[in-house]
Amino acid sequence: MAYQLTLDWPEFLEKYWQKQPVVLKNAFPDFVDPITPDELAGLAMEPEVDSRLVSHHNGEWQASNGPFEHFDGLGDTGWSLLAQAVNHWHAPSAELVRPFRALPDWRLDDLMISFSVPGGGVGPHIDQYDVFIIQGMGSRRWRVGDKLPMRQFCPHPALLHVDPFTPIIDEDLEPGDILYIPPGFPHDGFTHETALNYSVGFRGPNGRDLISSFADYALENDLGGEHYSDPDLTLRDHPGRVEAYEMDRLREMMTTMLKQPEDFRAWFGRFITTPRHELDIAPAEPPYQPQEIQEALQDGERLMRLNGLRVLNINGSVFINSEPFDAADSSGADALSRYTAIGKNELGDALNNPSFMSQLTGLVNQGYWFFDE
Ligand code: SIN
Ligand code: CO
Repeated sequence: MAYQLTLDWPEFLEKYWQKQPVVLKNAFPDFVDPITPDELAGLAMEPEVDSRLVSHHNGEWQASNGPFEHFDGLGDTGWSLLAQAVNHWHAPSAELVRPFRALPDWRLDDLMISFSVPGGGVGPHIDQYDVFIIQGMGSRRWRVGDKLPMRQFCPHPALLHVDPFTPIIDEDLEPGDILYIPPGFPHDGFTHETALNYSVGFRGPNGRDLISSFADYALENDLGGEHYSDPDLTLRDHPGRVEAYEMDRLREMMTTMLKQPEDFRAWFGRFITTPRHELDIAPAEPPYQPQEIQEALQDGERLMRLNGLRVLNINGSVFINSEPFDAADSSGADALSRYTAIGKNELGDALNNPSFMSQLTGLVNQGYWFFDE
């Protein structure tokens, strides 16, 4: 089903995005859960799916990672089951992410879903990403504190909590409500009635991940092989010092590498289209011929992008799942990055470009796009 999100995006971006937490009451009117607790439990039994079980009894926290073999003996209270990137594995749940394409795709991380029984939750903590927590079935009380320096500690080796905080938001969420929380604001969800919660997360890369990924790219592509040189060296009386102008030159050597627009784009395109969680890739069997694809599209059929596949257009260069896509048709390639479902209208003239159609066939055969049944 298509989810209708009632949200004034320009106002939201101006007032709240990355600035302030907010409760958006009834943002999904007549909300229907895309998944059942049983289906979620089934996913948490799959080795490809990242899942966790967190429980809290008599002040003691426990946490374990999936895949789980069974869920016996958990009792009726005080626990929560969480699965990451459910949008990659469960098509109806992926529908819940679509309305958030008002935000740029490259900022999206994944859809995490939690199931919690009364008293369940992961405890007070801070996240380093923006999150829209959608309330599905049940109800939970959410408390959010101000973004202040806070002590963090581990009540269990797999959990990072914060000290108690004074709430600036303290509200019960009902089905269809959304709590938006920017990075760094402590929060805690306490379950009243057995609940499903959907967290649509947006994560900005941090500097060290960027630098380290760029360094890998430089190594793989043999960049920056030139050595520091100083033919203008003059006699100095202190051999033990590195002079300021020398530090400037070293920094310049490094920034020059980062400043090459081609390398910067080629690296970033690969980096940002690398999925952070596994994808449910099923290559087409038997493979298609370009003509079959062309005819099907001409007949009005549509190709759906694999959920979670990252397709981004950076200044006209399209990258798909950590590879550059050397497109034979730039508007066709742009359509691949812009729409999650493509048909003849989205593809336009590219549909009659044999080289592009053969590239598209390759993508379909890889399992990156598939026909909508
Ligand atoms: C949850 O759904 O319990 C966890 C969401 C969060 O706090 O990040
Ligand atoms: Co959180």
